[in-house]
Amino acid sequence: METAKTLVTMGRGGTGKTTFVALMTQCLISEGLTPLLLVDLDPDQSLGEMVGTDLHEHGKRSVSELVGETFLDRGGTLSGVSPSERIEREIWARGMYEGSDFDFIAIGTKWVEGCYCLPDAAVKRALAAVSKQYRFVLIDAPAGLEHLNRKVTTGVDDIFDIVGPSKKSLDHVKRAYHLTHELGIRYRHFYTVGGYAFPRPLEGILRDVEGTTYLGAITPDPSVMNAVINGTSILGLSRETPAARSVRALMQMAGYL
Ligand SMILES: Nc1ncnc2c1ncn2[C@@H]1O[C@H](COP(=O)(O)OP(=O)(O)OP(=O)(O)O)[C@@H](O)[C@H]1O
Ligand SMILES: [Mg+2]
Repeated sequence: METAKTLVTMGRGGTGKTTFVALMTQCLISEGLTPLLLVDLDPDQSLGEMVGTDLHEHGKRSVSELVGETFLDRGGTLSGVSPSERIEREIWARGMYEGSDFDFIAIGTKWVEGCYCLPDAAVKRALAAVSKQYRFVLIDAPAGLEHLNRKVTTGVDDIFDIVGPSKKSLDHVKRAYHLTHELGIRYRHFYTVGGYAFPRPLEGILRDVEGTTYLGAITPDPSVMNAVINGTSILGLSRETPAARSVRALMQMAGYL
């Protein structure tokens, strides 16, 4: 099988990044473009709920929990095995939900004061190891730009910056674009997407951002909002809802379908 296409979302808080990942998941499953790997890099962990998958209910742990259990509770390291390698093994054994269409891992909430270095390094190793097993790897990043510094993904196929209705959200796109270059993050396309709240008449602004390609917008959709508020899975919604149709159009524009 070919190497998976790795797609990562980013943007400011609340612009609809996680919902977009869930809608992409629904779209790719309905098109038979599976298997998928979903990766939740947000400590807030909302992707699981949006795709109807609670790691704990399946007896699985977040990567941060695995780090805590492996090094704080059990202590020590195996000789000759680096900490990130050891956690990578734990991810396979106890951290990954395996479903029929998608597998799912989550970085989870930081286990002690300090950085995400070890969980990040373990996820990075894991991603490098599995890319041939999936058609797509979909990564939901936390809001803001700090995660770029964490460098879990130094090479991706496409970046989707979901833009909200604010100057700050637009500034985010410009900063993110420059930061990816400064940090040496490699990618094929840097796409911008109008978030569900982005005013359509202002789409022109997004077409002019240096180095980025405007793909289109996500349609505001009460059924999506209801699902998010009620904590029910986006995957259970009709594929013909306005938001799902708009995301399918974006996937077509990006050449995946
Ligand atoms: N297409 C849509 N139509 C209507 N509401 C939407 C749509 N997409 C997202 N929302 C609403 O926007 C809110 C934020 O969505 P979401 O959690 O996906 O954003 P986010 O960018 O991932 O947020 P965070 O920065 O906290 O991770 C949710 O309450 C959701 O209901
Ligand atoms: Mg989110």
